[in-house]
Amino acid sequence: MKNAGEQTGRKVSFDPVDQIMDVMSQAFDPAYGEAWNRRQISDALLLPNCHYLLLDEHGEEAPPGSRAAGFVLSRQAADEEELLLIAVCPRFRRKGVASALLEQLVGDLRRRGISRLFLEMREGNPAENLYRKFGFDAVGRRPSYYNRGEIKGIDAITFALVV
Ligand SMILES: CC(C)(COP(=O)(O)OP(=O)(O)OC[C@H]1O[C@@H](n2cnc3c(N)ncnc32)[C@H](O)[C@@H]1OP(=O)(O)O)[C@@H](O)C(=O)NCCC(=O)NCCS
Repeated sequence: MKNAGEQTGRKVSFDPVDQIMDVMSQAFDPAYGEAWNRRQISDALLLPNCHYLLLDEHGEEAPPGSRAAGFVLSRQAADEEELLLIAVCPRFRRKGVASALLEQLVGDLRRRGISRLFLEMREGNPAENLYRKFGFDAVGRRPSYYNRGEIKGIDAITFALVV
C-alpha cells in the first residue's frame, strides 16, 4: 500500500491518479453516481492517512505508469480504516483481483495495527458476495444514502471486518 508523499518521485506520464481514474471510468455504472472525480482522487492521494494499491490482472502490484486492472483506496482514522473505493475493470473481473486487493489491504492493516475495516455499499450491489466471502458482517444501514446518480434513494449498508 502507498500513501501520500510515497509516490515514486520519478515523473511518469501516466501517474497514480491517471491509473486510478482509468480503472474508475470503466468500473462504475454512471447510473449510481458512485465514481469519484479526478479532483477528489488527487486530493485523497495528498492526505497522509489515505492509502491506495493498484494491481494488475495477476494480482501483482501494477508498475508505475502502467494500466492497472484494479485499485483500492482507504483512509485511516485512529485504529480503524475505511475502505473508500474498490474497483476492477470489467474485463478482469472474477479472476480474484478484488480478493487480492482486499488480502493485501488487510495485510497492510495488520502491520499498521488497525483493528477494524469498514465500508459502505449500495444495497443490492453484487459486491456484497465478495465482502461476505471475505468475512465482512453487515453492521448498519443508512437510508437513502446514494443520491448522486440517476437512480436515487438507495440505502447504504455498512460492513465491518475485524482485522
Ligand atoms: C465488486 C468488484 C470490485 C469485484 O471484483 P472482482 O475482481 O471481479 O472480484 P473477485 O474476482 O475477487 O471475486 C471474488 C468473489 O466475490 C464474489 N463476487 C465478485 N463479483 C461478483 C458478482 N458480480 N456477482 C456475484 N458474486 C461476485 C464471488 O464469490 C467471487 O468468487 P468467484 O468468482 O469464485 O465466484 C467488481 O465487480 C467491480 O469493480 N464492481 C464495480 C465497482 C463496485 O461496485 N465496487 C464496490 C463498491 S462497494
